[in-house]
Amino acid sequence: MLQLNNITKQYTDGSGIRKVLDGLSLQVDDGDFIAITGESGSGKTTLLSILGTLIAPDEGTYTLGDVKITDSADQLSAIRNKQIGMVFQDHRLLPQFTALQNILLPLLANEDSVSKEATEKAEQLMDFMGISLLKDKNVSNLSGGEKTRVAICRALINQPLLLLADEPTGQLDDVNAQLVANLFKKINAELHTTIVMVTHSQEMAKVANKCFSLLQGKLIVKN
Ligand SMILES: Nc1ncnc2c1ncn2[C@@H]1O[C@H](COP(=O)(O)OP(=O)(O)OP(=O)(O)O)[C@@H](O)[C@H]1O
Ligand SMILES: [Mg+2]
Repeated sequence: MLQLNNITKQYTDGSGIRKVLDGLSLQVDDGDFIAITGESGSGKTTLLSILGTLIAPDEGTYTLGDVKITDSADQLSAIRNKQIGMVFQDHRLLPQFTALQNILLPLLANEDSVSKEATEKAEQLMDFMGISLLKDKNVSNLSGGEKTRVAICRALINQPLLLLADEPTGQLDDVNAQLVANLFKKINAELHTTIVMVTHSQEMAKVANKCFSLLQGKLIVKN
């Protein structure tokens, strides 16, 4: 499905140059559920941002399906919208809107209004994720675990081939973390969505079928 080859990424700030990714390669196959762990600051979010085409690497190549990712903005936003769903650690839901409205938001990037079919699709996803009853609730009134599940539904509304999740259980208690872990398993198995997930939690990493650790700018196979 995708291939990263010899990726490097460095940041320059007041304290100098810091090479965060240093010759990193990764192959993701269709149907994979990959967990990536690593210390704080090791570059996990940077890696996910490259996979999500939010930032470009300094060197190396990224091939997604048949497409060699370049920094042509038009091409990237189309790919991002149709093929990739992202769940951010801080959810990035719009607080003034309901759960359903937040889930439908990505569709409004391409159209002025949302079709009845799209609304039904969002309702099916909410049902799949066990949050049907929250449909018309304002997201600012939801718990952390509920917000996570709304954010996952929003990431899935365009039926992406690839779901990227940054610490989806980072702020959850054990019970909610387990619930979300099981939902990722279900998404991978039943919706056949390929998943790359960053996590601090060893428990969460166990539900994946491949596990890597990000160390000194490269991925090391774990297990
Ligand atoms: N835009 C930026 N400008 C400068 N430095 C950055 C930028 N983004 C990240 N960094 C630095 O790059 C390093 C890797 O950051 P990154 O966010 O990828 O780490 P992480 O593994 O996701 O950490 P955490 O587990 O804490 O979320 C950190 O040292 C961070 O300070
Ligand atoms: Mg991070």
